[in-house]
Amino acid sequence: MSPNKFVYVANWKAYFTPNQAYQWAKSHKEALGTLSKNSPIIICPSFDALSIVAQEIKGTPTYLAAQDCSAHHAGPYTGQVLSTSLKEIGCTYCIIGHSEVRQEYHETPAQIAAKACLLLDNGITPIICIGETAHDYDLNRGAQAIEQQLTPILTAIKKENHALKTIAIGYEPLWAIGTSIVPKSSYLAQQLEAIKRLCNQHLPDYQALLLYGGSIDETNALTFKNIPLLDGILIGHASTDFQKLQKIVLS
Ligand code: PGA
Repeated sequence: MSPNKFVYVANWKAYFTPNQAYQWAKSHKEALGTLSKNSPIIICPSFDALSIVAQEIKGTPTYLAAQDCSAHHAGPYTGQVLSTSLKEIGCTYCIIGHSEVRQEYHETPAQIAAKACLLLDNGITPIICIGETAHDYDLNRGAQAIEQQLTPILTAIKKENHALKTIAIGYEPLWAIGTSIVPKSSYLAQQLEAIKRLCNQHLPDYQALLLYGGSIDETNALTFKNIPLLDGILIGHASTDFQKLQKIVLS
């Protein structure tokens, strides 16, 4: 993927059953492929729909991502999905550390770091999600929260020599996810600068894409495209509606 193109990550979360995901991909694959030629689009279905969507978008410029992966190699881990399986299915990206996963499963930074390392070893770009809570934001501790979340992950990545040297950081303040509230451009720029600094400090030989996510829709997407450090956006609920996704990409 060209580092100069603005990237769109469509995080479908658990909005679709496999059949709904299939119908979406089937109905829109041509229009999606045309859009993706100029603007890289990464579709992230739930695990149960990955293979079926992979078949539909095969041979098109649209990328496939998973929404999570196991922190383990193959073994006795009931309910887990391996990074090697994601590679086999055709994923080139994988979201990890999403706040919805962190909260639901009490995920630790060490587990997220292990996932990032396994993905990089399998040539899959991890989309590492971080973001401060509303409480931290109110106390003006957004930058510290980001640093606390990101540092152990970047440090763990640095310890090993991975096959792939590209990561993406999804900055998603918790108070902005699914709330219709988005950060002010000046605040976002400040947080992105802090993230960039941390990436340069810990992983100077990596390419680090910076993404923003949280309440992006067709009415506000343009604002984010004008933020200099931003390489792309993560779109949750709005990405399940193809017309909205199209408007976001074309805005
Ligand atoms: P949202 O979710 O766009 O529905 O707010 C974004 C995300 O969690 O990635």
